[in-house]
Amino acid sequence: MNNLIVAIDGPAGSGKSTIAKLLAKKYDLTYIDTGAMYRMITLYLLENNIDINDLKEVERVLNTVNLDMQGDKFYLDNVDVSTKIREKRINDNVSKVASIKIVRSNLVDLQRKISNNKDVILDGRDVGTVIFPNAQVKIFLIASPEERARRRYNEFLEKKTEITYDEVLKSIKERDHIDSTRDESPFVKADDAIELDSTNLTIEDVINFISKEIEKAK
Ligand code: CDP
Repeated sequence: MNNLIVAIDGPAGSGKSTIAKLLAKKYDLTYIDTGAMYRMITLYLLENNIDINDLKEVERVLNTVNLDMQGDKFYLDNVDVSTKIREKRINDNVSKVASIKIVRSNLVDLQRKISNNKDVILDGRDVGTVIFPNAQVKIFLIASPEERARRRYNEFLEKKTEITYDEVLKSIKERDHIDSTRDESPFVKADDAIELDSTNLTIEDVINFISKEIEKAK
């Protein structure tokens, strides 16, 4: 039988990583957080003061840097950057980095490679459209920008980051705009993806809904 591929695409704060992690546990799937990879490359470029318009240099970074994921932990050249990649400065820059063609092709290759021969659940922006157009389950998870900002704001509060709700909302809207209007694999719903609006749903509701789709596909 073919390996099972579950694709969860959605904007910031739609709940995709929470949901993907829980479903990975429930169905014994390997969870792949594709956004974390864009975040790690962004962190490297920022920390090394690399101009993102210098494509030769960006390509050199992609060819030399080592990205590793183990469960909830992310390692950039063997250093644990799991906390750093969620910082505001990364949120503010990641969409620009993710719109660079060579960054996308390089990371999509890696995402396919680490999914090979496994039952996987991936979350991101282009899983059902580009990485795995043949995924057996495709969910397009959305929520209103205000609800998504509220969720992200609460996460920042827990981390004691100084930020206002309005700043979070503005940054989420900016990221939505860059991600959905970029030339390279823009963030759009795959024709055959099921759209699920989580604005007024609990995590359990979303899990139950997607579980039915996974059961059907198994
Ligand atoms: O959790 P949140 O949606 O805030 O972020 P993420 O999933 O970690 O993605 C961070 C950024 O990476 C997104 O805003 C996109 O610009 C980019 N991304 C992408 O272009 N394609 C993916 N498959 C995943 C993320």
